[in-house]
Amino acid sequence: MRKVARGSSLKPRIRPAKKEDMPAILGLEKICFKEETFHKKRIEYLLLKAKSLFLVASVEGDIVGSIIILLRKHISNARIYSLNVHPSCRRIGIGSSLMEHSEKLLTKMGYRNFTLEAGVNNIAAQNLYTSKGFSVDRKIKKYYKNGDDALRFIKKL
Ligand SMILES: CC(C)(COP(=O)(O)OP(=O)(O)OC[C@H]1O[C@@H](n2cnc3c(N)ncnc32)[C@H](O)[C@@H]1OP(=O)(O)O)[C@@H](O)C(=O)NCCC(=O)NCCS
Repeated sequence: MRKVARGSSLKPRIRPAKKEDMPAILGLEKICFKEETFHKKRIEYLLLKAKSLFLVASVEGDIVGSIIILLRKHISNARIYSLNVHPSCRRIGIGSSLMEHSEKLLTKMGYRNFTLEAGVNNIAAQNLYTSKGFSVDRKIKKYYKNGDDALRFIKKL
């Protein structure tokens, strides 16, 4: 995929993920996450069976980003399970658009808290969440498979 320059005015289209998007979503997962990649069965479950909000961002018809938010019955907390943007399309606001779109939908649905975990070394993600009004709630020791700690972020909706 051609790299999109920072400052580009390309606007992503954000829409709910469909079954036909599976190959593109899996490809994106592999590119964006190394050790923590979700496998086909997991993505299939999250897309087709789980109570979730699963959105994709597309640019010129190509899927370049996705967000998966886990929802639970009778619980007012919505938790981001995965967020990624193709390396060629970073820093042009796609991650922000996915977050903003999700937040609007969750607010309409009546959710009160929006939460997520980010690696202590994942500065890009931490800056994105802080810029969207999230704050650090606590540190979770050895959260990731590789033993890295995570920060739990929260935003009141
Ligand atoms: C984190 C990620 C989703 C950000 O997506 P993105 O589309 O590039 O984000 P945006 O363009 O909307 O950036 C919004 C803000 O986030 C911060 N940010 C994003 N990337 C950054 C980076 N590489 N370094 C520092 N800050 C960064 C900046 O504050 C940025 O605003 P600015 O560009 O005006 O300075 C993307 O880097 C990614 O997919 N990373 C790999 C997967 C991952 O770590 N997901 C999160 C798991 S918790």
